[in-house]
Amino acid sequence: MMSRQKNDEPLFEPYDSAALTRLRRSLKAWYAKRARDLPWRNIGDAYRVWISEIMLQQTTVATVVPYFERFINRFPTIHDLANAEQNEVLRHWEGLGYYSRARNIHKTAKLLVEQSNGVFPQTTDELTALPGIGRYTAGAIMSFAFDLPGAIVEANTLRLYSRLLCLDENPRATHGQKVLWAFAEHLLPRKNIGPFNQSLMDLGATVCTPTDPKCRECPLLPHCGAATADRQNEIPMAAPKPEITPVIEVSVAIQHEDRFLLRRYPEGQRWAGLWDFVRFPLGDAESLVPTSGLTAAAKIPQKLIANIELSVHEATGTVVELDRFLKEIRHSVTRYRISLLCFLASTEHATPEPNENLAWVPAEQLDDYPLSTTGRKLAVLVQRSQPTLF
Ligand code: ADE
Ligand code: SF4
Repeated sequence: MMSRQKNDEPLFEPYDSAALTRLRRSLKAWYAKRARDLPWRNIGDAYRVWISEIMLQQTTVATVVPYFERFINRFPTIHDLANAEQNEVLRHWEGLGYYSRARNIHKTAKLLVEQSNGVFPQTTDELTALPGIGRYTAGAIMSFAFDLPGAIVEANTLRLYSRLLCLDENPRATHGQKVLWAFAEHLLPRKNIGPFNQSLMDLGATVCTPTDPKCRECPLLPHCGAATADRQNEIPMAAPKPEITPVIEVSVAIQHEDRFLLRRYPEGQRWAGLWDFVRFPLGDAESLVPTSGLTAAAKIPQKLIANIELSVHEATGTVVELDRFLKEIRHSVTRYRISLLCFLASTEHATPEPNENLAWVPAEQLDDYPLSTTGRKLAVLVQRSQPTLF
């Protein structure tokens, strides 16, 4: 499929200029009928392209659409975003995960407003110098917003290009990436670059799907190495699966009168800037959890209760009494499968004192704080447990 030039740049033999002309024509005809109508498309607004692309990293289109609309409603311009409090930016990101994305867009918005009154640069090098903007996002902004040459390789096009090239190596490893980016550059037309890239992405998303690609409907079938070799189901090579580690964690909603203790995760942590109830891994105390798990009705082992009360005291200095087991929430974070045991506890004193990263919050004001996804679930449970309010 591919041979090498002396300078080690891959040369894509079957994709000579005549083939590229045919490929672009077929793709254009397909896109005229099949383009997805997405709210960030065809508006030539670098700010919206940027926000949508950051949201779309690691998150599906269906999940992103309502988040995108809420976000743009609240922060219609880069100036609105730059002027906002981090709490509010994170509140609009809550549930999307990978919160460094939100912290980075906030940082970049402030930087651009300061440097250039919020105007985006129009070169790949300047774009990738901004926090959170990698090669893909830069290519998307260049091509979708400015119709300038910017190649793209993201999840959908990685799969599509790998199949077109019948790429027999890991497309996520250094060499595979080099080949795919060179191919993405090689494909770029001289004009209408934005629609061209969007059509490749849509074709990857809707026709060249991860399992059972619809090759018979594919406008690129005559150009496809994998389909020709009938290998479309084995290419691209699957990413190695990380080993999953199960852990048990505890989250305690500590109540004093009508208020609950929230703490903000510090800089440098995965959930930096988000707030949460007191939460910690159970560690060695995992052995105290019955193998059948916990239920609200069953009696919780006294030793487990004592252990958690002690851990809360060590973590916060607060003396608490565990009142009730609320729920087990199961969720996964990277390679950890977490079983989160949620408790309601009470304390006689609202200590520690509030500060920038610690607050005693009335149940109805929990809505104002950006919480981790599990924190929000616990907040909803806690609010429901306040019969006078909800
Ligand atoms: N995935 C990543 N970027 C996308 C976009 N702009 N449209 C649809 N899916 C995408
Ligand atoms: Fe993908 Fe099949 Fe089209 Fe090849 S022919 S690009 S495998 S859908």
